[in-house]
Amino acid sequence: MLASRPGRRATLADAARGRILFGGDYNPEQWPEETWHEDVRLMKDAGVNSVTLGVFSWAKLEPRPGERDFGWLDTLMDLMRDNGIGVVLATPTSSPPPWLGRLHPETLPRDEDGRTEWWGGRQHFSHSSAVYRRHAAAITEDLAARYGRHPALTMWHINNEYCTYDYGDEAAARFRRWLRDRHGSLDALNAAWGTAFWSQGYADWEEILPPRHAHYLRNPGQVLDFKRFTSDMLLECYVAERDIVRRHTPPHIPVTTNFMPLWAGQDAWRWAEEEDVVSVDLYPDPRDPFGAQQGALVQDLTRSQARGPWMLMEQAAGAVNWRGVNHPKPRGLNRLWSLQAVARGADAVCYFQWRQSRQGAEKFHSGMVGHAGEQGRTYQEIKRLGNELALIGAQVTGSHSRGDIAILHDWDSWWAGAHEARLSTLVDHTRILTAWHRALWQARLATDFARPEHDLSAYRLVVVPQAYALTDAAIDNLLAYVRDGGTLVSGFLTGIADEHDRVRTGGMDARLRELFGIRTLHEWWPLDEGESVETDAFPGTLWSEEIEKDEDASAEVTYKGGELDGMPAVLRRGRAHYLSTLPEPDALRELLTGIAAEAGVRPVLPGLPDQVEAVRRGDLLFLLNHGRDAVTVELPGSHRDLLTQATVEGSCTLDRYGVVVLGP
Ligand code: GLA
Repeated sequence: MLASRPGRRATLADAARGRILFGGDYNPEQWPEETWHEDVRLMKDAGVNSVTLGVFSWAKLEPRPGERDFGWLDTLMDLMRDNGIGVVLATPTSSPPPWLGRLHPETLPRDEDGRTEWWGGRQHFSHSSAVYRRHAAAITEDLAARYGRHPALTMWHINNEYCTYDYGDEAAARFRRWLRDRHGSLDALNAAWGTAFWSQGYADWEEILPPRHAHYLRNPGQVLDFKRFTSDMLLECYVAERDIVRRHTPPHIPVTTNFMPLWAGQDAWRWAEEEDVVSVDLYPDPRDPFGAQQGALVQDLTRSQARGPWMLMEQAAGAVNWRGVNHPKPRGLNRLWSLQAVARGADAVCYFQWRQSRQGAEKFHSGMVGHAGEQGRTYQEIKRLGNELALIGAQVTGSHSRGDIAILHDWDSWWAGAHEARLSTLVDHTRILTAWHRALWQARLATDFARPEHDLSAYRLVVVPQAYALTDAAIDNLLAYVRDGGTLVSGFLTGIADEHDRVRTGGMDARLRELFGIRTLHEWWPLDEGESVETDAFPGTLWSEEIEKDEDASAEVTYKGGELDGMPAVLRRGRAHYLSTLPEPDALRELLTGIAAEAGVRPVLPGLPDQVEAVRRGDLLFLLNHGRDAVTVELPGSHRDLLTQATVEGSCTLDRYGVVVLGP
């Protein structure tokens, strides 16, 4: 059961206190004590006001079962206090010490093939293991009792990037209990999973397993429920530790755990409700021409989950070391992407990690202080950024901006639509979500994200890149939204299935068909990679549909030639629009821009050069030059640039990767 603390919830503002938190994961246990003092000097020079301690310190804190070694951490907590640097203190439970796995092998997770995930890496814990949970609770309890009232403590960071799956026996037992709670009876479970197919009917709860390796395609309902179960089990682990630290801590200290961006394993909407601060780790590839948009997408999503300021818990000051080829950030890019996050609502800009390691699996992952040390370009750029964030903190923090457009995104739909037996594996939820967000981002239209069940009434436009599985409540919500004056644009494969992944009668929910003017959805026609379908307006990609429309719906764009000749590619009935293919990128952008304009949604600033992004946060306007060439932007009125204190009148020039933060 999830327990919540009564009374006011702590927020990021309690930790940030009018500043932008700046700093990162600090792993001093990898370094001799002299280095700690050097670290503090460099941190202060760089305006670092926050470090995250202890993320992977379990073996150091509890070298043998039940022993405690807090001395080193006492020294560090005091050192940070004495130097005015706040500590985001982590529970170390994402990487159990070797002794736990050795003495209690049942704490180690099993993959779907039954292979054990051994210690020697990290995150080798079973969310379902009672022994793991007991040991995690014990170290959390002692950590919280010792530091819960330490003056350096500003926030709790629970575990790290919860992401494990477990198909082992203890997980199987918990899965059965979870299924009993969800479905109530075996009859209901058999009905929900459609076990009449392939002789899968369950006569006893004990027969049910996680969806382990099987000879052929696994039951979609079982796979879907297992994803929900996994997210819920990890959430139980988080909540258990959160509630422990809260018991030992004054109420103004917030609790967070860091999400991986667009990670399939956690229903982040649901998780965000259990956090005081929503935080995310963000690592776009510096070489990706759409790296800035990838960042913007995650930032929009995280801000929407937080419903206010959020925390960029980790990013890289330079290269990561987990891509095939790992590129550094060119000069200025770290600053640009950091300020982009601030523009989109981040009140904390932090990194993995403070000092680049010399050993271990991440020794080639950059740090705020790289191997080149104090004189290195990376640290020098960090120092500039830290000092700039200190300049703008007071004007920026706490404010929140909402977009006029909501993009619907939902984990249940993502999970259900990802089953191995589908019509096209090219139709990937995140790929389509990214394509739609990119179109809106390029059009400089400000976007939020929402779940299909959320109150959408504040948005002028709601877009649904893909919502394969929708509950009745979600469908009612979309219908009510349009009925009450909203404009809705949906992509294909929306409302195909219910929450149990049962295809709805007619191949798509009847009420949605009526909304869009689809009389009959005869067939789906998926396209191969690189293949396109012709229409009278643009090439369509990935997917197409054989649709017969209702008489009072209008075919805005029509397929040309081939099997679908004359059928609607884009269909409209009133304020409801339906795209049965994915228009190529420019066409998608134009289409959405046109519909947005009709709904009264305008770009943040009209007429900007392509490389410049404009983002409003409260009454501030951020202009971000994503290009390597300087560019001049025309600007009506007179403004003050918070970063330089210069007055900007008529136009302003942004250098390579340049940023201005304009106040009234
Ligand atoms: C994740 C982890 C960090 C580190 C970084 C490297 O975000 O939380 O501990 O491994 O990746 O990119």
